[in-house]
Amino acid sequence: MVEGTGFENRQARKGLESSNLSASAMRILAIETSCDETAVALLDISGPVDKPSIKVLGNSLQSQAHLHQQYGGVYPNLAKREHQKNLPILLEKTLKEACEDLDSPKIDYISVTQGPGLEPALWTGITFARALAATWRKPLVPVNHMAGHIYSVLYEAGEPLKLPALALLVSGGHTELVQMKEFGSYHILGRTRDDAVGEAFDKVARMLSLPYPGGPQISALAEADRRKHPEPRLKFPRPMLHSGGLDFSYSGLKTAVLYAIKDLSLDEETRAEVARAFEDAAVEVLVSKTRAALEAAPDTATLIVGGGVAANKHLRAELSNLQQEFPSLSILFPTQPLTTDNAVMIGMAAYVWLKTNPSKPEDFDAQGNLLLGS
Ligand code: KG4
Ligand code: ZN
Repeated sequence: MVEGTGFENRQARKGLESSNLSASAMRILAIETSCDETAVALLDISGPVDKPSIKVLGNSLQSQAHLHQQYGGVYPNLAKREHQKNLPILLEKTLKEACEDLDSPKIDYISVTQGPGLEPALWTGITFARALAATWRKPLVPVNHMAGHIYSVLYEAGEPLKLPALALLVSGGHTELVQMKEFGSYHILGRTRDDAVGEAFDKVARMLSLPYPGGPQISALAEADRRKHPEPRLKFPRPMLHSGGLDFSYSGLKTAVLYAIKDLSLDEETRAEVARAFEDAAVEVLVSKTRAALEAAPDTATLIVGGGVAANKHLRAELSNLQQEFPSLSILFPTQPLTTDNAVMIGMAAYVWLKTNPSKPEDFDAQGNLLLGS
């Protein structure tokens, strides 16, 4: 099943804007294959990096999650095969949606995720992008997937994005706090020492016999439990809450859940209780470390929250409460379709890269462990 991601109506609404695009507008084709989502988008972007005018001309995404369910996580070679199969289909769908000629579309740049991610999966995107770049004689732009999650908030941001910013990036592979003093420049303040928070959601879901990806399942159960029982009946440890630093650790929490459920019969009620206690612990640490990072850098103007776990309602609510403690802080979340992996965010990150990078794009290899900054 090939899905659109809900931009069509919004774009119809925004259609009138197209005549206002400035001469410096760029058309960027974006390709994302770092994990288990294949995605292709065509963007028309112009304007300043802190508030670009973005039109999504075409956008398609194919999730492989249902195929990886039996493995309880993403199986790299299956992901690679599926990306290879999906890419030409999604490209055609995206170009048709944009009413572009399939043989020589109007495109200025081709951007593709370089890393981090699963290398076999990344390579399929890069190889495909290279072939298109050679055929259409267009430059290739490498994109860091985590920069994509940061700039996912640029779409429909009401105000210009003010710097310095702090980004809390929470996904299946990453949990990090990133300081951004300038566009395109990143400093990692803290990161997970073991499992990523999304990975912990997925593993705990598996322990509770819930399907992959586990985040949305845990979140729904936890919400149901909170509605039924205002006070939690179970509490898990908050790893590294008082460590004094900004690093995270989620493997101990996962083990705590494993021990707690060992002697329990996992009926619906118990699963919800465990899911809520896990989510409470995972979220409390994220919020506490974010607060500490904001206190350490009081000039921070914007908090950006990106990555799949940013879809989590409890996390969104708790982070939004930080507004009371930091009244002048802008807190930005991506719109729901841009929270999990997608190609629109890759195109937006490519735009920032092009606007801030003095060097011309050159050919590059996939880098599974590509870092965002030092
Ligand atoms: O950013 P993403 O789509 O892919 C990576 O770059 O890893 O993030 C996927 C992760 C998965 O671990 C998934 O369980 C988690 O995001 N996730 C959630 C929710 N929706 C997705 N975690 C908690 N609550 C959610 N609502
Ligand atoms: Zn991601």
